[in-house]
Amino acid sequence: MEDIKRVAEIIKERGNVVAFTGAGISVESGIPTFRGAQGLWERYDPDEYAHISSFLRNPEKVWMMLREMAQVIFQAKPSPAHEALSELEKMGYLRAVITQNVDGLHHLAGNKNVIEYHGNHRWLVCPSCREKTPFTQDVLGIYPYPRCERCERALKPDVVFFGENIPFDAMIRANEEAKSCKVMIIIGTSGVVYPAAEIPYISKSQGAVIVEMNIERTPFTNSITDYFFPGSASTYLPQIVRLLS
Ligand code: OAD
Repeated sequence: MEDIKRVAEIIKERGNVVAFTGAGISVESGIPTFRGAQGLWERYDPDEYAHISSFLRNPEKVWMMLREMAQVIFQAKPSPAHEALSELEKMGYLRAVITQNVDGLHHLAGNKNVIEYHGNHRWLVCPSCREKTPFTQDVLGIYPYPRCERCERALKPDVVFFGENIPFDAMIRANEEAKSCKVMIIIGTSGVVYPAAEIPYISKSQGAVIVEMNIERTPFTNSITDYFFPGSASTYLPQIVRLLS
């Protein structure tokens, strides 16, 4: 409790907070993580299902997993941690959320400045002509997969597959926010996927206080984290909001 009070004081003094989020913030929304015992990559080999060359070679196979992911995402609601980040933005403390998540839950919670580093699963994009269309529930009924109306290619969710580049705009904006924030809160990420995992190191190198919330320790914990909160972000973030209210 002492540490959470201290972090609330730091946020009050410094303001200018950026949150860097991963799959752990959406666990209580009903979306499993990628790594770990219940993780998506335990059931689906990412080389076979998450690499862009696998998608282009066999979209029908990859769409089996994408359909499952989409069903989970469509049912998910923001967690207390998402809601707390939205409150922190409304209160003027949180300047941006940089998320690796593709579930769109930060937007649904009401955050306005959200940088989706790995894209968004609620949109479809044509890998050939880059035309984008909303990924709505009815797309799940199109077999074996939806096609681009313009060029007939298999559409993919507008998310970054392994082997693809990070969207340029997201990368630039994320780097700017990381450089200029005074407090970075890292939430529910294993910190092993690059270049996303570089972001907290950029903030640390510019003097930001690093706060981390995770049920397990990560590569950040012993290297750059100043305040580590072991457990669910849905426990700690609402406490911070209450202390600042
Ligand atoms: P991971 O699945 O690698 O890590 C999830 C993290 O959340 C782990 O460190 C868990 O300990 C933590 N966690 C689980 N439940 C939690 C809770 N209730 N509160 C707080 N933390 C909790 O997911 P990411 O780090 O997000 O990339 O994965 C990074 C990228 O790898 C993803 O964006 C995705 C994946 O391949 C792409 O799709 C390009």
